[in-house]
Amino acid sequence: MDHRRPWWRTAVVYEVYLRSFADGNGDGLGDVPGLRSRLPYLADLGVDALWVTPWYPSPMADGGYDVADHRDVDPRFGTLADVDALVADAHALGVRVVVDLVANHTSAEHPWFRAALAAGPGAPERSRYFFRDGRAGGSAPPNDWISAFGGPAWTRVTGPGGPEQWYLHLFAPEQPDLDWTSPEVADDFDATVRFWLDRGVDGIRVDAAPAMAKVPGLPDAGHPPGASFASSEWVGNPHWDVDEVHEVFRRWRRIGDAYDGDRLFVSEAVVNGPERLARYVRPDELHTTFNFDYLKAPWDAGALRTVVDGTLAALAPVGAPATWVLSSHDETRHVTRFGRERSGAAVMGFDDAPPADLARGLRRARAAALLTLALPGGAYLYQGEELGLPEVEDLPAEALQDPTWERSGHTARGRDGCRVPLPWSGDAPPFGFAPDGVTPWLPQPASWASLTAEAQRADPASTLSLYRAALRLRRELPVEEPLTWLDLGADVLAFDRGPALRCVVNLSARPVPLAGLGRVLLGSGTPGEALAPDTAVWLAPA
Ligand code: GLC
Repeated sequence: MDHRRPWWRTAVVYEVYLRSFADGNGDGLGDVPGLRSRLPYLADLGVDALWVTPWYPSPMADGGYDVADHRDVDPRFGTLADVDALVADAHALGVRVVVDLVANHTSAEHPWFRAALAAGPGAPERSRYFFRDGRAGGSAPPNDWISAFGGPAWTRVTGPGGPEQWYLHLFAPEQPDLDWTSPEVADDFDATVRFWLDRGVDGIRVDAAPAMAKVPGLPDAGHPPGASFASSEWVGNPHWDVDEVHEVFRRWRRIGDAYDGDRLFVSEAVVNGPERLARYVRPDELHTTFNFDYLKAPWDAGALRTVVDGTLAALAPVGAPATWVLSSHDETRHVTRFGRERSGAAVMGFDDAPPADLARGLRRARAAALLTLALPGGAYLYQGEELGLPEVEDLPAEALQDPTWERSGHTARGRDGCRVPLPWSGDAPPFGFAPDGVTPWLPQPASWASLTAEAQRADPASTLSLYRAALRLRRELPVEEPLTWLDLGADVLAFDRGPALRCVVNLSARPVPLAGLGRVLLGSGTPGEALAPDTAVWLAPA
């Protein structure tokens, strides 16, 4: 382990979407014991840390992001003892563990929200959330705010005497927003942060970070009728990226700094541009933040370079490293995105899904992996991208579980297509995800037989082998070296990271000659004299 700099400045963190990783108890849903049993795979893959999506008690209205108790484990996922064993095993393998903190909202089944409903209008129990009277004599929502899953951000309560106040939920109605001006809310989350850090986790991912403060008085946002949630475009919005959110992060940072071992806070923050993003990682706030501009960039050299340069320029003044991310449990898998003509992504499953050429998408995804892992800073990998999994676009409507599907009036299928359980082994579902005969919570395509981890482990040309090789090489490479662009012509991204690593990505339609550029270390295709379109190579400069 390198003691000169905190691990998270260059870490490759693997996102485990727990429900879909590995099912240890045979109920069709992934769980902590299942994850624990697969830790050797992750250590062998060569990642530095795991971020595990919520394992807390939850009614699962939003896949566990509706938390009913922030300091316990849902019995479907395991027990606190299972989590302790997971953390111990991971550490023994040299892999760190990051947990997910959902603090913008609770589940509607959280004891606080139940108490708030029972107590009625005006009661102090309601002050932890946003309960307000409606407009138009009570029958219209208190303002024009919208939900990330479609429709208004307000739901009206029906009390014993009939309809009464409304409550705010920027996500699903089962996820009421907490009012972070309530001292009780802030104090209780201090205890939650300490609870997990005391258990030895290495970091905390802050869910929906920009949502956690609202402009007092809750003024209208000016959303046009039918507007969709587009936080990357919003400026001066009263319910997103409001300045007061930063007070929360400073508070948590003070807590985290009192612990040993370089504990990490990383935020999920989809905001307007890299300068706004850099505010989340000022020296007394969070350590890193996901870079969604990179994820949303199309397969286009100019667009990618603009994002890389813009990110590095915005983060340099605050001293935070970049993190590069291509996929997550909220986004269309990038094999599919890059296979489309218009290859940029929309957040939160609102893609309008033009057809994808998956062979092209996979070529580009493999090249993108080498690009991502060569950039300065850290990277986040989403489970299954190392297998080159595509989005499952033909899930039957009755299988869909993402609240987006219902909330959008069946116009947006939502995020289930990137959440299909992993194929581990064998030639038929459940592909080792669960014991044979068990039906996974989302159906796996039969065509995934050729994409299992087992099948790919044996094939040196597989995507899994490419990721393993890249992650191994990356550990030997000079992670501190800055990026220097080279000009190899239009639609070619080429840069050096010091004297030891040169990365060339060919986004053009013609082959790029490699003569004189260096010795090939690793290629996403089969680099010979020239680099084929949609492939990338790592070289040791000549
Ligand atoms: C984040 C999570 C997403 C969840 C939302 C509400 O965006 O990544 O899955 O639906 O927050 O908690």
